[in-house]
Amino acid sequence: MKGQFGKRSLFVGKWSFFLPLPTMSTRKLYIETYGCQMNVVDSEVVAAILLQHNYQVTEELDEADLVLVNTCSIRDNAEQRVRTRIREFGRLKESSHSFAVGVIGCMAERMKEKLLEEETTVDLVVGPDAYRDLPALLQEVESGQKGINTLLSLEETYGDIRPVRMDSNHVSSFVAIMRGCNNFCAYCVVPGTRGRERSRDPETIVRESTELFEKGYREVTLLGQNVNSYRWKEEGQDLKFEELLERVALIDPQLRVRFATSHPKDMSDELLKVIARHPNLCKAIHLPVQSGSTTVLDRMKRKYSREHYMERIEAIRSYLPDASISTDIIAGYCGESEEEHLQTLSLMEEVGYDFAYMFKYSERPDTFAAEKLEDDVPEDVKSRRLSEIIELQGKLSLQSKKNDLGKTYEVLVEGSSKKSSEHLYGRTSQNKVVVFPKGKLKAGDYTRVSITDCTSATLIGNVVN
Ligand code: 5AD
Ligand code: SF4
Repeated sequence: MKGQFGKRSLFVGKWSFFLPLPTMSTRKLYIETYGCQMNVVDSEVVAAILLQHNYQVTEELDEADLVLVNTCSIRDNAEQRVRTRIREFGRLKESSHSFAVGVIGCMAERMKEKLLEEETTVDLVVGPDAYRDLPALLQEVESGQKGINTLLSLEETYGDIRPVRMDSNHVSSFVAIMRGCNNFCAYCVVPGTRGRERSRDPETIVRESTELFEKGYREVTLLGQNVNSYRWKEEGQDLKFEELLERVALIDPQLRVRFATSHPKDMSDELLKVIARHPNLCKAIHLPVQSGSTTVLDRMKRKYSREHYMERIEAIRSYLPDASISTDIIAGYCGESEEEHLQTLSLMEEVGYDFAYMFKYSERPDTFAAEKLEDDVPEDVKSRRLSEIIELQGKLSLQSKKNDLGKTYEVLVEGSSKKSSEHLYGRTSQNKVVVFPKGKLKAGDYTRVSITDCTSATLIGNVVN
């Protein structure tokens, strides 16, 4: 559900992007993306499909003929944000110029016709597997009807489509390697909104990554809801994720490769050995734990225990001693006792996470938890537990940065530091952000930086020749 987190925030808020390809008859598409990195790629796929049908992408809302909102359903607040935005579009439609409004992505899939009924501004509702149908649906909208397609597919991977890149730095990009999810964690809406798991043809993955490298990109993040279960039948044999990863690593030693997300039940030693073998496979493992309590994990249907998770952490530490480890944590899940919450805090300390995404449990319709378990942790208790988790992670993140003081890292330069035009920022293989004096370096260069100072979020250093 998320990418090499910390790279860009997991929930990226909104992105809009611009492609200057005007022709006389073109219509203008303005697209906003909420949710995970998979949605970022999906917006790039949607842009590619519509570019073939006389659309040009604009970042100016007031010249748009079509506004698409690519949505997330993972927590209720993600949906509420989108609803507020849709109503803003509605007011704009009345006060300024006419345009069509389409809702795409997970919320479209979850709510279907209900979205058209409840949000009258919306003209078009399209689920994550139906984007090829967008041009036909837009014709229906043009003729004054509402358009909807929320069919899920067992095969669609958009493998043949070259996404229109919308990243800002032209250094790092996402490449989707699979879609959907078969895990059915009890709290999670994703198997319902993105359908069954299916893997993308490895040839198209390697081709897309090679093309990105040739265009000057220096980092790709391979994306899937559970990348460890990537499978492709090739000459009668199963191609597994670690083999795919190795193929992408072999494109060029100058191309850094990351991946997200792994499931603790499927994180194999074979994968860790491949990562250890290739210096350009980044030493950063995102392994969502969700809870430190085996009984909670059981109620979450995560299919592993605290002990199994810790055994996988030990495996990471032994094969990849210099790897960073990050995670996702949910506070206040159904029935969570104080004791179970304390186990999450103790696991966090035991692992010593470098980084974490932390959330309050949000009940989602049609999930196992919504139907069978009670969302019984009071709101104030959930908030307090989340604060304790965030506070502890603050300390762990600072410790993780302090451990790097005096060390030297290879850094891939991503761009200018926000705070100073005299400084650049980049990332270590461990996915930690480093700020350093600019010199003659530019985005896409590799440089060695010795770490002299830090905050809990950033390393500060000097370039070493
Ligand atoms: N409530 C809170 N957090 C959730 N996540 C997934 N579903 C929910 C939910 N219903 C979190 C998990 C997951 C991350 C992407 O979002 O931690 O790993
Ligand atoms: Fe991504 Fe959809 Fe999950 Fe949100 S609900 S994190 S958009 S897969």
